[in-house]
Amino acid sequence: LVECFLYDLGLVTAMTTVTVRVPAKVNLQLAVGPPRADGFHGLVNVFHAVSLYDEVTVTTDLGAEPHAQRRPLVTLSVAGDSAEHAARVPLDGSNLAARAAHLVARRSGASHPVRIHLDKAIPVAGGMAGGSADAAAALVACDALWGAGLGRAALMELGAELGSDVCFPLLGATAVGTGRGERLDPLDCRGRFHWVFALADGGLPTGSVFAEYDRIRPDAPDPALDPALVRALAEGDARALGAALGNDLEPAALSLRPGLRHTLDAGRGAGALGAIVSGSGPTCAFLAADEGAAEKIAAVVAASGACARTVRAHGEVPGAAIVAGH
Ligand code: C5P
Repeated sequence: LVECFLYDLGLVTAMTTVTVRVPAKVNLQLAVGPPRADGFHGLVNVFHAVSLYDEVTVTTDLGAEPHAQRRPLVTLSVAGDSAEHAARVPLDGSNLAARAAHLVARRSGASHPVRIHLDKAIPVAGGMAGGSADAAAALVACDALWGAGLGRAALMELGAELGSDVCFPLLGATAVGTGRGERLDPLDCRGRFHWVFALADGGLPTGSVFAEYDRIRPDAPDPALDPALVRALAEGDARALGAALGNDLEPAALSLRPGLRHTLDAGRGAGALGAIVSGSGPTCAFLAADEGAAEKIAAVVAASGACARTVRAHGEVPGAAIVAGH
C-alpha cells in the first residue's frame, strides 16, 4: 500500500517481473486432411508436452511512460542453449511472443511497455512448437504482469488467433487438436514416456512442409484419430505407443530434407520403440523403453553424425506455468 502511495506520488518506480516456463511438444499422431478453403489443413493432431522448456521473462516498468507517448510497447531479447539457434529468432514485431503481448494489451487496455526475454532450449523452427510455446508463455506472463485478469478461456481464444499450435502449450499434458489444431480435448496418458530428440542444423518452415505435402499427397483423406494410439496412452504402454506413432507430414519433411532418413534409421538401429519426424520437422523424435534405453539411443544417434545434437526428455508434463515473479 505504501509503495502504491509513493508510486502515485511518482516517488518510486515499481519494476515487476514474471517468468513463465513452457514445454515443447511432440506430435504423437499428425493426420493431415486436404487443404481447406482458407488454405489451412484440417488436422487430427495428438500433442504431447515434453520436459524441454523455454523460459519467458516479461518485465514492465510501471513508472514508465505509456508506450503511446514514447516507447514501443514491446522490446525483445533472446538467449539460448545454442547461439546458432538463438540467432535465428526474429526480434521484431513478427515474433509470436511480441504479437501475444500486443493482443493482451489490446484486449485489456494495458499500455505500459514490457521487455520480453526468451531463454530458449526448444529448437527454433524445429517442429516442436518453440515459437508457439513462447507466445503461450507471453500470454500468461503479460496477463499476470498487467493484472489483466483475462483467465484461461480468453487466453485460449487469443492463442487460437496467434497460431494453430499456441493453445496447446497453455494446456500441456496430452491432448488431441482438431480444426486446424487449435480445438483441444485432453487425452488420458498414464505413466512416463522417455524421449530422445535429434536436433538438426537449420529449421524447416511449417508452411513449406504443408505445401510439399499437398504436392506429394493430392488425394489426402479426412483425418481420423487412431484408436490404437489412444489405448496405448491410456494404458501407459510404450511399446504399443511406439508402434502407433504416425506423422502424415513426415514424407514431405523427408522430401525437403532427405538426410533425415539417416537420423531416423540411426534411432531405430539403437532400439527406439518408435521413430518419427516431429511435427513439420526437422527434429526427429525417438520413443525409448526406459531411461537407460533413452541414454543409449541418444549416444548412438549423436555418434552417428546424423544430427547436430541430441536431447532427452520425458512426457507428459504440465503446460505454461509462472515459476517466478515479483
Ligand atoms: O497456424 P500457424 O501459423 O502455426 O501455421 C503456419 C503455417 O502452416 C500456415 O501458414 C499454413 O501454411 C500451415 N498450416 C496448415 N494447416 C494447419 C496448420 C498450419 O496448412 N492446420
